[in-house]
Amino acid sequence: MKKNDKRVVIELDEWRALEKHHQAVRSLHLKEMFAADPGRGENFCAEACGILLDYSKNRITAETMDLLFSLARALDLKGGIESMFTGEKINSTENRAVLHTALRNESGKPVMVDGEDVMPEIRRVLERMKICSEQIRSGEWKGYSGKPVKRIINIGIGGSDLGPAMAFQALRPFAEPGMEFFFVSNIDGTHLAEALRDADPETTLFIVASKTFTTLETMTNAMSARDWLTRSLGSGEAVSRHFIALSTSAGKVQEFGISPDNMFGFWDWVGGRYSMPSAIGLSLMVAVGPDNFRELLHGYFLMDDHFRKSDFEVNLPVISALLGIWYNNFFGAESHAILPYDQYLSRFPAYLQQADMESNGKSVTSEGLPVKWQTGPIIWGEPGTNGQHAFYQLLHQGTKLIPADFIGFARSQNPRGDHHRKLMANFFAQTEALAFGKSAQDVCREGVPEELVPHKVFPGNRPTNTIVARELNPCTLGSLIALYEHKIFVQGYVWGINSFDQMGVELGKVLAGRILPELDPGRECSGHHDSSTSNLINWFRGNCRD
Ligand code: F6P
Repeated sequence: MKKNDKRVVIELDEWRALEKHHQAVRSLHLKEMFAADPGRGENFCAEACGILLDYSKNRITAETMDLLFSLARALDLKGGIESMFTGEKINSTENRAVLHTALRNESGKPVMVDGEDVMPEIRRVLERMKICSEQIRSGEWKGYSGKPVKRIINIGIGGSDLGPAMAFQALRPFAEPGMEFFFVSNIDGTHLAEALRDADPETTLFIVASKTFTTLETMTNAMSARDWLTRSLGSGEAVSRHFIALSTSAGKVQEFGISPDNMFGFWDWVGGRYSMPSAIGLSLMVAVGPDNFRELLHGYFLMDDHFRKSDFEVNLPVISALLGIWYNNFFGAESHAILPYDQYLSRFPAYLQQADMESNGKSVTSEGLPVKWQTGPIIWGEPGTNGQHAFYQLLHQGTKLIPADFIGFARSQNPRGDHHRKLMANFFAQTEALAFGKSAQDVCREGVPEELVPHKVFPGNRPTNTIVARELNPCTLGSLIALYEHKIFVQGYVWGINSFDQMGVELGKVLAGRILPELDPGRECSGHHDSSTSNLINWFRGNCRD
C-alpha cells in the first residue's frame, strides 16, 4: 500500500489485530515477562553502526513485535523509505522532495531531483565549507582590520540553530580550543547582548543561518549585529569580512549586504530541522574541523544505509518507531522522554523536540483529512543524573505512562576517578527500577512501618529503551541523529501525515506582525482583538519603558 493511497490506518486488519493483542497483554508485568524468558535481554536487542538498542524492557511479547512489523509491511514501509531516498516529492503540501539523506550520501550513486543529480552540487558546497573553515581555523581569514577570528556568533533559530548548537555542545572535546562559539536564536535582545558582551568587533565573525533569510528573529538579530559591527569598526565595508550567510536565498542574502562569495547555499529539499549536515553545519565545522565534520556525515550515512537496507526485525529506527506507536496509539501514552546520560548531550532533548514535534505534530493526513488516531508525542527530557533529582519521581510513581529512551556510553570523554562508573551505575539502575519496581512485600520485609508501605512501593512496568555506544564522537553522534530522524519518518509514514511541512508555526507569526505596530509608543491598540489580548496589550503599553 502506498502512502498516498487514501487508507485509514486504524481500519487495517493489522491495526485491529494489534488492538486485540493489546487487550491481551496490557496487564502483563515486565517482571513476569523476564521471569518467563531468561533470554529476553538478548532476544529483544539490535545493534547497528556501533549503537546497541536494548528494547527488552518494553511491554511487548514476540507477538507484539510480529504484529507491529506486519503493520509496517501492510503499509509498504519499504516502498515509503525508497520514495524518500530516491527523491519522490513526499512533502506533498509543498511539492518537495525530502533529501537530507543526500547530504551525507557516500554511496557514490547519483541522487536525482527533477531529472538532475544533486550530488555534484552537494560536494561543491562541502568543499567550499572546508576551505572556509580551514581559513578561519588557521587565522588566514582576516577581519576588516587584519586580525584573525576569535569569536564566532551563529545567528539562526529552529533548525538553523538547534542542530549546530546541540552538536557543538555534544562535540566540545573535538572543538578548536582557541576560539569561542555562541549561538544566538532568541529575538529577546538579551541573547545577542550576552554574545556581544566583551566581544572584540575586530575578531568577531557572524554566521547568519537561515534557510529563507526572512525569519523575524534571525533577521532582527542579524541587523542588530551588523549595526554593532559597523558602528564599532566605523565602516559598512567591514561587513564583507565579518558576515557569512547560510541560506537557500541568494537574493535575500545579497539584499542584506553579504556577498555571494561569503554565502553557502543549500536547497528547498532540505527541511530546516534536518539541515545540520548541509551548509547550516558551518559553525560546527569551524569548531570541530572538516575531518570531524566528515566523520559526523559518515555516521549519518551508516545509519541511513542500515535503515534503507536492513530487515525490519533488526532495523533500529523501525523498531524504535514501532515501539513508539505501540505506546502512543495503544497504551495512550502522551509523551516520550529522552534521557541522555552524558552532559555533552544536554541539548539533545531540545534538538529532538523540534525534529519530532515540528514533524509529527499534525492532525490532518497528507490528503488533508482529519486523523482519527493520535500522532506525535510530546518530546521532553534532561540529562541524567540531574533528572533523577527532579522529575524521575513522577516517572517511577506517578499516574502517567511515560516511555523513555536512556542513552549512555561505555567511555567518558573526561575520565575522572570513578565518576563515569557512578554515572553508569545510575543509568542501569534507573531502567531496572522502572521495569521491575519494588513490591509491597519487599517493602514490608525491610521493616517499614505499615502506614508508609504504600508510599514506598514502586509499581514498575514502566517501559524504557536503552541505547548505548562505546563513546560519544562525531561518527556516533551522526548515527544517533539519523536513528531519530528515521524513527520520526517511520512514525509519520504510519500515521499517514506529512512530516515535512510546519504550517502550524505560521498563525502566530502573522498575528505578531499585526500586533507589533500596536506596541509602538503613541499608537492605539487596534481594537480588533478579543478582550483578553486587548487588555494585555494595553497593560504592556502602560508599563513598558518607552
Ligand atoms: O518557524 C519554524 C521554522 O520555519 C523552522 O522549521 C525552521 O527551522 C526555522 O523556522 C528557521 O527558519 P529559517 O532557517 O528559514 O530561518
